[in-house]
Amino acid sequence: MPIPPLDVTVTRAAWESVPADWLVLGIDSAEWSSDIRKLDALLDGALSRKKSAGELPTKLGELLVLPVCPGITAEGLVLVGIGEGRNWDAAACARALNTAMRHVTVKPDRSLALVLPLTDRNSDQILRMECERAAEAAVVAGLGQDLYKRDRSRHSLRSLTLVIPDSLSEQTARVAVEEGRLLGTAINLVRELVNRPASDVYPETFAQRCDQLATEYGLTARIWDENVLREQRMGAMLAVASGSDRPPRLVMLEYRGSDREGTDLALVGKGVTFDSGGLSLKSNEHMLTMKCDMAGAATAVGALTAIAAARLPVNVRAYVGLVENMVSGRSYKLGDVLHARNGTTIEVQNTDAEGRLVLADVLALAVDEGCGRVIDLATLTGACVVALGEEYTGLFGNTPSWSATVREAAERRGELVWEMPMHALFDELLESDVADVKNVGPRWGGAITAAKFLQRFVGDSQWVHLDIAGPAFAATSKPHREGGATGVMVRTLFEVATQLAETPDHPASPTA
Ligand code: BES
Ligand code: MN
Ligand code: ZN
Repeated sequence: MPIPPLDVTVTRAAWESVPADWLVLGIDSAEWSSDIRKLDALLDGALSRKKSAGELPTKLGELLVLPVCPGITAEGLVLVGIGEGRNWDAAACARALNTAMRHVTVKPDRSLALVLPLTDRNSDQILRMECERAAEAAVVAGLGQDLYKRDRSRHSLRSLTLVIPDSLSEQTARVAVEEGRLLGTAINLVRELVNRPASDVYPETFAQRCDQLATEYGLTARIWDENVLREQRMGAMLAVASGSDRPPRLVMLEYRGSDREGTDLALVGKGVTFDSGGLSLKSNEHMLTMKCDMAGAATAVGALTAIAAARLPVNVRAYVGLVENMVSGRSYKLGDVLHARNGTTIEVQNTDAEGRLVLADVLALAVDEGCGRVIDLATLTGACVVALGEEYTGLFGNTPSWSATVREAAERRGELVWEMPMHALFDELLESDVADVKNVGPRWGGAITAAKFLQRFVGDSQWVHLDIAGPAFAATSKPHREGGATGVMVRTLFEVATQLAETPDHPASPTA
């Protein structure tokens, strides 16, 4: 059920005369902008009186909703708190706009006009960011996790009008809007794929969807079934798949936006469409949300569609390993020794540490196929959530400059990433008596030993591993975001590709 493309208009008209169901303005907790002072005058000082009474929204994302508002053409008015204007960045902007948009999209067919800038800061860069985030927030706010409900609780906006100041060119605004719209669309794709249950999204259907996306976005698709996976010696991934009645798939999607040879960036995703834990069976509580265990794969694919839609001049591949981790007479077992694609033997000590087994083979494949710069994404460990909480992505790498590129990209786009240590002493914790490596370490440092396990399969490539077990899937809805899948890291990956497009050899030539 595709959402109709959002209708966005850019105008320089005076905001008090712009027609819309809702007019939205930002309000600073400390100092009022000229627009807010003008509104206060239109309302005969009502805002000043509210302020004295302590009833104005002041905190970031707080709303004051006036269902009717004299003096303006729009039907109603929403004031959204932007916190302290000096802290205004991509993350703050997203929180304020997502909250405002989500307030409006509970009703169908609404039109919204947004007055820019939201704060008193009106540099081109900030205005561009606001245009982009507004379009993205409008698209994302229109899709809920209630895909299977008779009555939807979220609805796409009928139209979004951006009221821009004279200083911003309409062309710049439109380009930013387009970027926001395509990012919002990619984020919604990820959310939809993750939110759909494992009975609908399993390796074959995920792969089919990739095939459709390839046609839609002008990508090349290569899909391997279990026979090819066997020929390709993907023994670790196949072991995980063996317990399921649903056969595995490996999908490689390629976008070529540059004439340069080779691949500038490979995105590798964990695509466990359901993680029961296998014979090391999870409890009901821990299994409950494990339809989300293919979020890494969905994110890799989603980011690639955004990169393709933006026609960035880079060559990017997404590799996703798709399996179900299930219990049956054919399940892989504790004590099994697996033969990974790169020749490494792996002793299985816990069948619930399956994501790293899938990634081991898929990472090795990407590297074999000449990818010198790799980012993998995985809902890999509960330990990462213990370490960093539900909002931060854990970052692990083998090349400081490449890790820095990804960290800085996240910061620029307002996503939360924290780099974790990769000291060699963690390697010892994975030593096995019977094979080259075992698939779990001791309890402590579990996110790091998982990353250390992956490192054995990336060869000489520049590699970053992003553990999104915390932020990929939200237990509950909040005013600023819907519960369920979040689409985290799509923006960051898009920014990394944007950076590579500007400086393809940044930070250094790949070694492979
Ligand atoms: N898919 C889980 C990790 C996970 C946990 C994702 C919570 C999202 C939310 C992964 O396959 C897993 O089961 N990891 C184990 C590893 C352990 C057996 C070493 C874990 O974290 O307990
Ligand atoms: Mn698991
Ligand atoms: Zn898993």
